[in-house]
Amino acid sequence: MKTTDTNSKSRPKNRLRMMTWSLLFIIISAMVLPLTSYLISTTNSYAQVTDDQNHRANFWRAVREGEAGYSAVTGPEAGVFINNGGQNWRQVRNNLITTYGGWAILASLGLVVLFYLIKGKIRVEAEKSGKTVPRWTLMERTMHWYTAILFIILSITGLSMLFGRAVLIPLLGAEGFAAWASLSISVHNFVGPFFTLGVFAMLLFWVKNNIPNATDFKWIATGGGIIGNAHPSAGKANGGEKVWYWLVILVGLLAVCGSGIVLIGWAAQWGLIDNTRATMQTMHQIHAIAAIIWMIAFFGHAYIGTLGTEGALEGMTTGRVSVEWAKQHHDLWYDEVKDQAADAEELEVSEKQPDVSPT
Ligand code: HEM
Repeated sequence: MKTTDTNSKSRPKNRLRMMTWSLLFIIISAMVLPLTSYLISTTNSYAQVTDDQNHRANFWRAVREGEAGYSAVTGPEAGVFINNGGQNWRQVRNNLITTYGGWAILASLGLVVLFYLIKGKIRVEAEKSGKTVPRWTLMERTMHWYTAILFIILSITGLSMLFGRAVLIPLLGAEGFAAWASLSISVHNFVGPFFTLGVFAMLLFWVKNNIPNATDFKWIATGGGIIGNAHPSAGKANGGEKVWYWLVILVGLLAVCGSGIVLIGWAAQWGLIDNTRATMQTMHQIHAIAAIIWMIAFFGHAYIGTLGTEGALEGMTTGRVSVEWAKQHHDLWYDEVKDQAADAEELEVSEKQPDVSPT
C-alpha cells in the first residue's frame, strides 16, 4: 500500500518536471532556431544568392518592367501586369498639364478682359449707308456654328475631366462629380467625331481664303488695326484670321482631333496605329496640351468676333456685312465683291458725286 502511495505522489511531480522541461525547450528553441539562418547564410551556398539570382525578386522586377505574362484577357498588352509609364503619365497630367494649363487658360481670359477694358470695341468709322454685301453663305454659317457649338460642348466636358477633381468635387461633392464626369466622358467621346467632321469641312471650304500672302505679313506687322489704329489692307481673310484658320487645322484637326480618334480606339481599329498604353499616354498628353492651346486661341477669336469688333458677328449670323465694315476691315475683298453690294450702282454714283453740303 505504501508503494502505491509513493507512486501516486510522484506522478504530479513527474508531470511538473516534464512540463517545465517542455516549456524550457520551447522557449530555447524559439530563441535559437531563428539564429540558424545566420549559420546557414555563412555556410550554405544559398547565402551567396545575389539579387539577380533571386528568382522571386527577378520575377517581380520583370513584372515591374512591363514584361508580359499570361492572361485570359485579350487585347494588346493584356498580359502586362504593372505599367510603369502610367505613373509618369499621371505625374505629367496631374502636375504639369493641369497646373500650367489651368493658369494659362485663366491668364488668357484675363488678358482678353484687360484688352477690352483698354481698347474697347473697334467701331465702324464711316457713317452707315445701310448698304450691305454678302460675306458668308448659309452653308458656311451652318458649318461655322455647328463646329463652334460642338467645340464649346467638347471644351466644357473636356475641362470637367481635366480639372474636375480640383474644381468640381468641392462644388458638387464626390457623388455629384462622379455622375457628371461619367456623363462628360460619354458626351465628349460621342461628340468628338462629329466635331472632327465640322473642322474637316472648314479645311475643305475655307482653304482658298486662307493661303498666306505678303499682304497678311504687313497686316500682322501693323497689328491689324487691333493693336494700334492703322487700317492695314486685307483680302477676304486678314492675317489674323489666317493664323486662326491654320491653328484650327494644324493644332485642332491634326493634333486634337487626330489624337482624339486614337484615344477612342478608332485609329487602332482602322489599323493605323497600335493602341498600347504607351501610345495612349502620349496621345492623351498631345490631346490635352493641344486642346488647351486651341481654347486659349479660341478666346481671342470669339472676343474679336463679338465684343471686339463692331459688325463682325453680323456677318456670321445674317451672312451680310455693311459696306463700310467691308471697306474698313477687308478692303481688297470689298474691291472684288462690291458689285454684289445691294444698290451697288447707286453707291458708286454717290461716291463720285461732289460735296454739295451747304456751308
Ligand atoms: C462662340 C464662338 C465663336 C464665335 C462668336 C465666332 C465668330 C466668328 C465670326 C464673327 C467670324 C467671321 C469673321 C469675319 O467675317 O471676318 C468667324 C470666322 C471663323 N471662325 Fe468662328 N466663332 C466662334 C467659334 C469658332 C470655332 C470654335 C471655330 C473652330 C473650331 C471657329 C472657326 C472660324 C474660322 C476658321 C473662321 C474664318 C473663316 C475664314 O476666314 O476662312 N470659330 N467666327
